[in-house]
Amino acid sequence: MDAYLIEGGHSLRGRVEISGSKNAALPCLFASLLTQDPLFLYRVPGVRDIKVAAKLLERLGKTVKFGEGKLEIREGEVSKEAQREIVAPYDLIKQMRASVLAAGPMLARWGKARVSMPGGCAIGLRPIDIHLDGLRAMGASVEMAGGDMVLTAPAKGLHAIRYRLKFPSVGATENLMLAAALLRGTTVLERAAREPEIEDLAELLKKMGAGVQGAGTSRIKIKGAKRLNGAGHTIIPDRIETGTFILLAAIVPGSSVQIASCQPAHNAAVIKLCRQAGVDAQAGDGVISVKTGSQFRPKPVSIKTAVYPGFATDLQPLWMAFMARSKGKAKIQETIFENRFLHAAEMNRLGAKISVKGDTALIEGIPTLVGAPVMAGDLRAGAGLIAAALTAKGMSKISRIYHVDRGYENLEMKLTALGAKIERFEEVRYKRVS
Ligand code: UD1
Repeated sequence: MDAYLIEGGHSLRGRVEISGSKNAALPCLFASLLTQDPLFLYRVPGVRDIKVAAKLLERLGKTVKFGEGKLEIREGEVSKEAQREIVAPYDLIKQMRASVLAAGPMLARWGKARVSMPGGCAIGLRPIDIHLDGLRAMGASVEMAGGDMVLTAPAKGLHAIRYRLKFPSVGATENLMLAAALLRGTTVLERAAREPEIEDLAELLKKMGAGVQGAGTSRIKIKGAKRLNGAGHTIIPDRIETGTFILLAAIVPGSSVQIASCQPAHNAAVIKLCRQAGVDAQAGDGVISVKTGSQFRPKPVSIKTAVYPGFATDLQPLWMAFMARSKGKAKIQETIFENRFLHAAEMNRLGAKISVKGDTALIEGIPTLVGAPVMAGDLRAGAGLIAAALTAKGMSKISRIYHVDRGYENLEMKLTALGAKIERFEEVRYKRVS
């Protein structure tokens, strides 16, 4: 397993280019299941989650070519009968929960989807009841068999629905949009997720021949088509990677970073909060500049995570690392995932003073963190620990960075180019002694 060795205290200076959005690309990859035509996706980040999704598509009969951000997906030789029997298996689902997005398109295209039930994960239970409830409303039946969900469409196919999600789940909104795109009639989703990734999926579905209105609002109308065509589509910039670099520059004193090829509007919440904390953060045309003085410590600013356009839960561990050195006490309330504070104990190993009670973390800012060995428990917790280690005095080792590889493209290269001292090495777990 790989780990990072980080020497803290080196300010970040220069320009960083933001990659395409992992979370926007994933549902677009699964949209390829809706058509027998080729799909070309550009600006796809070369991260592990995308590779897992590509592997899953290959098992479902697609051929996938991926290089330099361009992903070509074509229908392979697998027969319709065989495709119906193909399973989105546990070995892939457990690596990446978003694999469950195969269910909607498989069901709409082949009338059947056998998808392994995702278990819980480090940040919470993460049920998929809203996905299933919506697909049931479209007429699907759901049975469990050996840890798999077997979803079956009625003989005449799924039907359009008017459906109100009980919570604006990003994944469930995407799954239902994907299914709705390939059925006759107009589906209306209410209390839909409003994240920019939803708008990006809508753009692709429109290019493929579906009618989509209202993406980006909580009411989305999808006019399905009996047949969808192939398309070419460029993925939006990754707003979570953008937010990560905004906060990295805010966290490491003496930094001056231009975050380029991004969409500043997608990060309005974090930019505003950084300014409240005393950071010089300026949004321009496709670029965000973030500067801090060499002795900078932020003012304490409490936050509450929320659905878009609120403060993204994925950036919460980074805000925690930021507030760890604030000049007072700050609170973080996590409202999206029930167990997303595991990084707090790891940050305390770096000297932070963080206590957690239920959905709220209380952070008592201290002047200096001190390097230590820590462990990444999930993708964004890993980013938070990297941030903390970059500002800590001395060396830190961050284990289990395979979590970070799931979602950040060339992270250590980008950080090194900005002046960080970060090295990847392989941790040898077993060594023969005789
Ligand atoms: C997506 C993002 C993830 C981000 C999250 C919230 C991808 C690949 N991942 O995850 O990075 O942190 O949005 O912005 O895009 N829930 C249910 N039932 C369901 C579905 C969700 O109770 O059927 C709950 C979840 O457990 C969680 C909350 O709703 O507490 C939000 O989940 P959701 O918006 O679905 O997140 P994901 O799509 O899994």
